[in-house]
Amino acid sequence: MDDAAVLTNQKHLFSLPDGEHYLNCAYMSPTPKRVVEAGVRGIMRKTAPSGIHAEDFFRDNETVRQLFARLIGASAPERVAIIPAASYGIATVARNLTFAPGQNIVVAEGQFPSNVYAWREAARRHGVELRTVMPPDRVPRGEAWTARVVEAIDAETIVVAAAPLHWTDGTCFDLEAMGARARDCDAAFVVDGTQAVGAMPFDVARVQPDALVCAGYKWLLGPYSVGLAYFGPRFDGGIPLEEGWAARRGSEDFRRLIDYQDDYHPGALRYDVGERSNFILMPMLLAALEQVLEWDLHDVQAYCRSITAELFDAVRDLGFGVEGEAGRAGHLFGLHAPAHVDLEEVKRELQARRVSVSLRGSAIRVSPHVYNDASDVAALLEVLRDHVSHAA
Ligand SMILES: Cc1ncc(COP(=O)(O)O)c(C=O)c1O
Repeated sequence: MDDAAVLTNQKHLFSLPDGEHYLNCAYMSPTPKRVVEAGVRGIMRKTAPSGIHAEDFFRDNETVRQLFARLIGASAPERVAIIPAASYGIATVARNLTFAPGQNIVVAEGQFPSNVYAWREAARRHGVELRTVMPPDRVPRGEAWTARVVEAIDAETIVVAAAPLHWTDGTCFDLEAMGARARDCDAAFVVDGTQAVGAMPFDVARVQPDALVCAGYKWLLGPYSVGLAYFGPRFDGGIPLEEGWAARRGSEDFRRLIDYQDDYHPGALRYDVGERSNFILMPMLLAALEQVLEWDLHDVQAYCRSITAELFDAVRDLGFGVEGEAGRAGHLFGLHAPAHVDLEEVKRELQARRVSVSLRGSAIRVSPHVYNDASDVAALLEVLRDHVSHAA
């Protein structure tokens, strides 16, 4: 049976305008209808605050932790922290590592800044080396780039800061290989899952990251300014970035909040952002995770591959470089333009045709999801063909 038949187009769950070809979930997801409804209910709730009770500060958070733990195969919801941004999760990790001169930090070249600046700063402050691993010159890059990262990890590595795929062009890394090498060297293994978790299967038990951080507004389909992180046992007992009251043991009893506690809630809850009980954002994130969990993410990948199947040979004929099938994610990939193509001009032409993609580095980044269909991809190809034939 054709894999693609498992999942049909899901556009009815979203409110995308007719005639718009939104191939840009890696930029931000359109908000599903049920998530909008949850947000509106959240706004209305505070018009009559007497209806918001102490237990409401904890209930949605707990459910969100459970849902995310299920999505990533984490052993317990207590392993999940609520964060406002990926950068916050990475900063939390950086704060809880000990650096000494002569040691090193390993990152792949061109990662998203939220998984780079914290490491640059740690390197500067503590006199450690930031080892930036360059990609191979030519596609396919995934396997060879992974091998280079693995080679860069040694006994002096404190942390390997990685991602399942490159955010600019979807080049897939072998996280299990990187994680195994990191463990052999006793280095912390930190993964920015923002561009993968929610769109493709991710299993904490297989990858074994010490921490996984995800912004929530892309493939998790949530609102902006709330994300989720997994922290493994390596970070039990760490120091959070802030000392919020809700992170402390016994915080459920509002009458006794000034019986100040030395202990935190167990697991990763100490790393929660202050005011994590946001009565608008949390119900939205909860509804978003429910939506994501209704799909089998293998099917989401198969669906995205099915609607883009014709694209790759066609753009190669136009001179674009594309990662090979095996090393490329279904939901996020880059079309590396030939030198004579003016990407800014292509972008204007795409906008005129109402095709939304992103320019990242030298690539046109295309990131379809289940609300797209083959006509969106055809519109993209039409613009690229027109452009290349006029530019030639
Ligand atoms: C790989 C990756 N990580 C993180 C983010 C967002 O980071 P933050 O939540 O720190 O703004 C993005 C946004 O494009 C991204 O592509």
